[in-house]
Amino acid sequence: MEIRQEREQDYPEIYRLVKEAFAASQHADGREQDLVEALRKGSAYLPELALVAEEDGLLAGHIMLTRAGVGDAPVLVLAPLSVRPEFQRQGVGTALMERAHEIARARGEEYILVLGSEEYYPRAGYRPAEELGVTVPEGIPSANFMALRLREDAEPLGGTVAYAPEFGL
Ligand SMILES: CC(C)(COP(=O)(O)OP(=O)(O)OC[C@H]1O[C@@H](n2cnc3c(N)ncnc32)[C@H](O)[C@@H]1OP(=O)(O)O)[C@@H](O)C(=O)NCCC(=O)NCCS
Repeated sequence: MEIRQEREQDYPEIYRLVKEAFAASQHADGREQDLVEALRKGSAYLPELALVAEEDGLLAGHIMLTRAGVGDAPVLVLAPLSVRPEFQRQGVGTALMERAHEIARARGEEYILVLGSEEYYPRAGYRPAEELGVTVPEGIPSANFMALRLREDAEPLGGTVAYAPEFGL
């Protein structure tokens, strides 16, 4: 399996992949594939952190990290993470996250935030964002709002998250 940056010719396949991945997910709003396309066109998009996992010429998974902020500090937001149903539970999601973390660390990024399963993301090092000084957005269970600190010497965070406008939050 190869993990690489997404390319323009992948976009239609990524759209279908994201749609399929979230079709069976209970927390999905059914528009994650449109969110990917909107984020790509916006200023929060970071091409280096939009990755696909490719297996025998087929895209198995996709991950996107975009720019956000907490107070004055720039952070990354991981969303969405999608694995094609027939490739789920084979480590694809974990491999995509690990590669994204590596790239983010190499860029000097300090934190990644994610809203998602409190069972899945802690395996990759995420913990409740509240513990790292981030205010939990209203209406979201604090356990589902998580953060990963990429550098031990990162300044503590404080404040609320300003998401890219494409999230509509
Ligand atoms: C969630 C998702 C990205 C995980 O990717 P994956 O490649 O299947 O996961 P991995 O193989 O890296 O890890 C599998 C482990 O994570 C856990 N896991 C997988 N999906 C999970 C989920 N939705 N919730 C909680 N735990 C999950 C499983 O326990 C599994 O371990 P096990 O097989 O030993 O029981 C993928 O299932 C997916 O695309 N789901 C639909 C879209 C979605 O919900 N995206 C995340 C939004 S928060």
